[in-house]
Amino acid sequence: MVEEKCLTVCSVETRSAKTTHHDLLQLIDKTEESLFRTGKFGRFGGIFVPETLVTCLNMLVAEFNLILHDPHFQGELEIALRDYVGRETPLYFAERLTDHFKNSEGEGPQIYLKREDLNHGGAHKINNAIAQAMLAKRMGRKCVVAATGAGQHGVATAAVCAKLALECTIFMGHVDMERQSSNVRLMMHLGAQVKSVEGAFKDATSQAIREWVGDLDNNYYLAGTAVGPHPCPAMVREFQSIIGKETRRQAMDKWGGKPDVLVACVGSGSNALGIFHEFLRDEDVRLIGVEAAGTGTGIHHSATLAKGQIGVYHGAMTYLLQDDHGQIIAPHSIGVGLEYPGVSPELSFLRDIGRAEFHTVTDEEALDAYLLLCRLEGIFPALEAAHALAHLAKLCPTLPNGAKVVVNCSGRGDKDAETVLKYQQQKDGATLTNY
Ligand SMILES: Cc1ncc(COP(=O)(O)O)c(C=O)c1O
Repeated sequence: MVEEKCLTVCSVETRSAKTTHHDLLQLIDKTEESLFRTGKFGRFGGIFVPETLVTCLNMLVAEFNLILHDPHFQGELEIALRDYVGRETPLYFAERLTDHFKNSEGEGPQIYLKREDLNHGGAHKINNAIAQAMLAKRMGRKCVVAATGAGQHGVATAAVCAKLALECTIFMGHVDMERQSSNVRLMMHLGAQVKSVEGAFKDATSQAIREWVGDLDNNYYLAGTAVGPHPCPAMVREFQSIIGKETRRQAMDKWGGKPDVLVACVGSGSNALGIFHEFLRDEDVRLIGVEAAGTGTGIHHSATLAKGQIGVYHGAMTYLLQDDHGQIIAPHSIGVGLEYPGVSPELSFLRDIGRAEFHTVTDEEALDAYLLLCRLEGIFPALEAAHALAHLAKLCPTLPNGAKVVVNCSGRGDKDAETVLKYQQQKDGATLTNY
């Protein structure tokens, strides 16, 4: 195979030139209407699991449906999100970053950051973790099991389990435990048992699911992202959608309108859907997902929507990095939380109907974007979020003056400080003493 210098931007073939906004809305509405019954986003999603699991998943669907309409649960969740998680998160005008991307005439878009990095635990993951842990408690489950890659979902889950007096076991790939060791320590301090799994996030996920299936009466599998069998993608999307709801309100307060463009990194899809979902029906809001092009060679990457083929993985149909025999291709990204061979079935659907566009960013571009945000705004983003920020270099020159761009700053980068230092050592010979 000929190596490409850079991964090509994903093109959307399936939306015909004749698809009108009306058609698109109908497709989106139809999908939402049937979601609880079918668990499908168009041809994606579903429940591809052994029969023994179906009853348990059906119970979860029923319980999820109940809490959505239960004012008591919703009231408690609102209080927890406010007083424990620290919501709402600010919509921050990044003035110096905006100036940085102005053209020679002093024109360019205005850049805002949705500060999910300011949540308790340092990422968006806790929006979903707190809600699902409350659901687990309500269902009488005693032990929460989860898998984590970058450790942000692990920290969020360990924290909410401590708060709700639930036992917590986190599975993590042995390579990720080394790469994100500060989060491993936090999970332990928070009382979670952290179990090392040979491999990376995808292997940890398989192991967490195995553990869950071992005792369905007591265990609750707390999905950290919008993948897996129904209702996991729908639940995670629902609990993360507060990001977009707040963004709409805050944009109205700040400039009296909507954002023109939303940008989010895509690992498996939870922060992207969290900010996109509220705006799916707003044709005038562009939705841009940014995947990891990794080394940029077209071989070591995590760009599932750009490069994957449709398949079934972890219980759902979705785009998937797989070889000609259907075997999983190991993903790579410097943003550990982006390393997953599958992707949210809902994002796969949005890609196919042309409602969202997807682009890619290399490890190096993301590392540079991390440093740029540190130096210009005094904000250290997670390397996952840095992928969304890195796309601004390509996006900004194409936008009209004054366009409002909101980047989802999905997490903070304490966990990545060591990785970035190593990058600088290789690039500029920087060390701790001659920095
Ligand atoms: C800060 C942060 N952003 C983004 C992601 C990617 O996950 P998702 O695509 O589900 O938002 C992760 C995953 O660990 C993360 O920690």
